[in-house]
Amino acid sequence: MTSSEVRTKFLAYYKARGHTVIPSASLVPENDPTTLFTSSGMQPLIPYLLGQKHPSGTRLVDSQKSFRSQDIDEVGDNRHTTFFEMLGNWSLGDYFKNEQLPWIFAFLTGELGLDPKRLYVSVFQGNESVSKDTDSIEIWKKIYKEVGITADVAESRSAAASKDARIFLYDARKNWWSRSGEPEKMPPGEPGGPDSEVFFDFGKALGLHEQSQWSNEPCHPNCDCGRFMEIANSVFMQYQKQADGSLKELSQKNVDFGGGLERMVAAANDNRDVFTSDLFSPLIRVIEHASGKTYGEETETTRAMRILADHIKAAVMMMVDGVLPSNKGQGYILRRLVRRSLLYGRKLGLTKDLTYIGKLAAPVAEIYAGSYPDVTEKIAEITLLLQEEALRFGKTLEQGLSEIKKIAVLDGKIAFTLYETYGFPWEMTVEIASETGQTVDRAQFEEEFNKHKALSRTAAAGMFKGGLADHGEDTTKLHTAHHLLLASLQKCVDPSIKQRGSNITAERLRIDFNFMRKLTPEELEKVADLVNQKIKENLKVTRIEMPREIAETIGAQREFGQKYPDRVGVYFVGLRDGIDPEQATPDDYFSAEFCGGPHVGFTGTLGHFTIRKEESAGAGIRRIYGLLSTT
Ligand code: ALA
Repeated sequence: MTSSEVRTKFLAYYKARGHTVIPSASLVPENDPTTLFTSSGMQPLIPYLLGQKHPSGTRLVDSQKSFRSQDIDEVGDNRHTTFFEMLGNWSLGDYFKNEQLPWIFAFLTGELGLDPKRLYVSVFQGNESVSKDTDSIEIWKKIYKEVGITADVAESRSAAASKDARIFLYDARKNWWSRSGEPEKMPPGEPGGPDSEVFFDFGKALGLHEQSQWSNEPCHPNCDCGRFMEIANSVFMQYQKQADGSLKELSQKNVDFGGGLERMVAAANDNRDVFTSDLFSPLIRVIEHASGKTYGEETETTRAMRILADHIKAAVMMMVDGVLPSNKGQGYILRRLVRRSLLYGRKLGLTKDLTYIGKLAAPVAEIYAGSYPDVTEKIAEITLLLQEEALRFGKTLEQGLSEIKKIAVLDGKIAFTLYETYGFPWEMTVEIASETGQTVDRAQFEEEFNKHKALSRTAAAGMFKGGLADHGEDTTKLHTAHHLLLASLQKCVDPSIKQRGSNITAERLRIDFNFMRKLTPEELEKVADLVNQKIKENLKVTRIEMPREIAETIGAQREFGQKYPDRVGVYFVGLRDGIDPEQATPDDYFSAEFCGGPHVGFTGTLGHFTIRKEESAGAGIRRIYGLLSTT
C-alpha cells in the first residue's frame, strides 16, 4: 500500500463520519513565538480544544506536517524521524471514547487490512487525580470480542506472561498526553489528558515468539526492542492544568487523535523499516548512487543513510515553509540538520563534492508531488540554497577538523560543545580524538547532553522554561536584560511592581507587570537609563542555590503563580563582594530572582538597551517590549 493511499483512505474514512478535511498548517507556527515548529496535529488547534468555535465545525481531520527536534539523536533506527506527517482526527466537544476507539480499530483493520491479532493497546492506569480509564478498557474488550479475540487486561508489565494479554495499563509517563508530557510537567493553561495507544506487533516478521507471544521474555507493547511499533494515539483531552497545580475539567471533552503516516505505512506493508517505504526510498536511492554504497548491507552505512535521508527531507520541508539557514531559531535548526547531514555523508565517503546535498532535494519533491505540490514549485531554489549552505560549512568543517587535532585535552564538555555548535556527533568526535591518541569522557558528554535534551523537550513542547524561546546567545542576553529591567522598574517607578509574565525571543524581550496606569515617557527614560547604567557597570551575574524560604527572606523575586521546589536557584546581578548570599539584604545586590537561567556572566556584554513599546496587557497589567543593540 502506498503512503498516498494510506493518507487518502484516512481522510476519506473520517470524512464519511462527518469530519471536515482541513489543510496542514505550516511547519512554522503562526503568531506563536514560544515554539519553533509545529510538532503535532493538535498544536494549531489549541484554541479550539480549549473551547473556541472552529469555523469548520466540531469534527476535523487532517494530515499535519510535523517536526520534532527532540528525536534528532534517535534517528538512525528503523522508525524514528524528525519530520513526519501526523494523521489526525478531532472531536471538539463532540463524540468521545465510544466512537473514537471502535473507529480507529476499524480503520486499521478494515481500511489498512491489519490483522487484529497483531494489534495491542494501552490504557491509562490512573493516578492520584485522574482515575483508571475503565471506560476505554471496557470498550477495547468489546472491540476485541467482536473479532473473536479474548483480550485480558495486563495490570502490570509482569502480567505480560498471560497469553491473552492485550490491553496494557501504564502510568502517566506512557499514557498521558500533553505537549509537555505528564501532568506534573504541564505549565498552567496547558490542555492534556489520558490516552490510549495502538501498537502493531512485528514479532512475526522478526521471527520472534511465533508460538507464544510472551514465553521467552517479558516484552510488552512499550518495550524498546523494536518488536512493537506505536501506530495510533487517541488522546482524551479533557483537562487543563491550573496555576495551583491541579487539573480542571475543560468545558468540553475532546478527542485528539494522532498517528504517524510513516508508521501506518510500515504496518500496512508489514515492513518495520520506515526508510524502505515510498516516503523515503527515492531519497535512499539517490544517496546510494552518490556514495556507491548499498542500503541494508551494513549497519553503520544504513544508519548514516537514514540520518542523511531524514535530515535532508526535514530541511527541505522547512525551507518550503520559508525557513532559511541562520544562527537563530528555526534557521539554526535547519543549519544543524544540513551540518549533521554532511558529517554523516562523510561516513559514507562523501567528502569531496559536497554538491550532492543539493541533489537530495529533488527526490523530496518526488515523494510529495501529489500531496504537497508547493515542494515541487520551490525545489529549484531550495536545491541551490542547500548546495550553498553545504559548501559554506564544508570549508569550516575542514578547518574545524584540523583545529580539533590541536586541542590538548578533548574532554566531554568540549565534545558536547562540538556537538552543539558544529553538530559533530559523538562517534565522530571520538574518531577524531582517537586519531590523536585521546579518549573522551563519555559520562561528562552525556551529562551535558542530557541537560540539552531536557531543554529541547521543553522547547518542543512549546512551553519554554522561564519564558525563553531558546537558549541561544541573543535570547540569553535579553534574559539578563529582563532581570535588569524588572529591578529598574521597581527602583525608578514603584517598589511594589511584580512580574506577571515574560516572553523572550532572540529578537526582543517582553515583560508583563502589575501597574495601574500608563508609564510616562520620563519614567520610561529613567528605567532604560538605569538598565544601561547597570550594563556599563559590568556587574557580575551569579547563580546561588538555596532553600526556598531563605530566597524569599532575602527578597529574591519570584514569578507570580509559579510553584517552586524546596531548593531553588537564585540569580543575583551585582551581588556585593564578601556578602553571604543567604544573609543578603536588597541593598547588597541590584537584582535577585528565582530563575532557571541561562544568563550572561557579566552585564557588560549586553550592549545598549532600548524600550520599544509600553502598552496595556489587561486590567492593571502593563507590558513593555525591549531590545538590545550593539551600538
Ligand atoms: N497529540 C497526540 C500526539 O501527538 C495525538 O501523539
